[in-house]
Amino acid sequence: MFTLLSVRLREGTKDAHRLAENAPFIREFFSGQLSQESYREFLVQLYSIYSALEEHQDRYRMHAVFGKIYFPALYRTHALEQDLNFYYGNVNWRALPLHEATSDYVNRMHDLSNEWVEGLVAHHYTRYLGDLSGGQMLKRMVAKIFKLSSGDGLAFYEFPAIPDHVRFKNDYRVQLDVMPVDEMTVQRIVDEANQAFELNRRVFDSLYMKVAKPVSR
Ligand code: HEM
Repeated sequence: MFTLLSVRLREGTKDAHRLAENAPFIREFFSGQLSQESYREFLVQLYSIYSALEEHQDRYRMHAVFGKIYFPALYRTHALEQDLNFYYGNVNWRALPLHEATSDYVNRMHDLSNEWVEGLVAHHYTRYLGDLSGGQMLKRMVAKIFKLSSGDGLAFYEFPAIPDHVRFKNDYRVQLDVMPVDEMTVQRIVDEANQAFELNRRVFDSLYMKVAKPVSR
């Protein structure tokens, strides 16, 4: 029986989602204990991840499968630049080294763009639907932790061209479901989405190990 790709992705990544939600870095984030140093380092990692993802989207906007979710309204690169300039001030954040986990993540997307473009659907789904879902809760946390009131430092969570997130997510799912893909490709995309969650989790763990050292009792 053929099930819709949107349903297969949601069902097929439930366990991975739970694991990502429970990553120590994310838990620390939600408990309001994240330092600004840790958070801005997180944004540096995201910047290189979205730069790669968005470069590939532009390149494959006419692709029969990946092109179906070509939505520049989702792009995060510019928003991340704004936030990074805000948090780093005069420091040249572009020159900061990436975590190995981030390079692996970026390389995986580059490999897919050369070898199996359909696989990029999984990375697109994992990041952007996440940003439009749990990511919105993180926005409130960031504002609270860093006592932000003017909106500066929160651009990453804001999608000015997407006023209604629920509606957009529904439209997005429709686009997933009209992709011309066979059962084998659907399964491969779900597998790749699990990989994408795992790659995200590795980035979180790497950040947690480096800067969010737990206080010993
Ligand atoms: C504590 C952290 C998180 C919370 C509280 C959270 C919460 C949620 C919630 C409530 C939804 C359902 C939204 C809806 O149906 O409209 C959702 C969906 C989603 N989240 Fe998360 N999330 C978290 C972390 C993450 C992370 C780290 C990722 C990936 C890196 C992620 C990726 C996704 C994706 C792809 C969906 C869409 C599922 C679907 O409907 O197909 N989430 N999240």
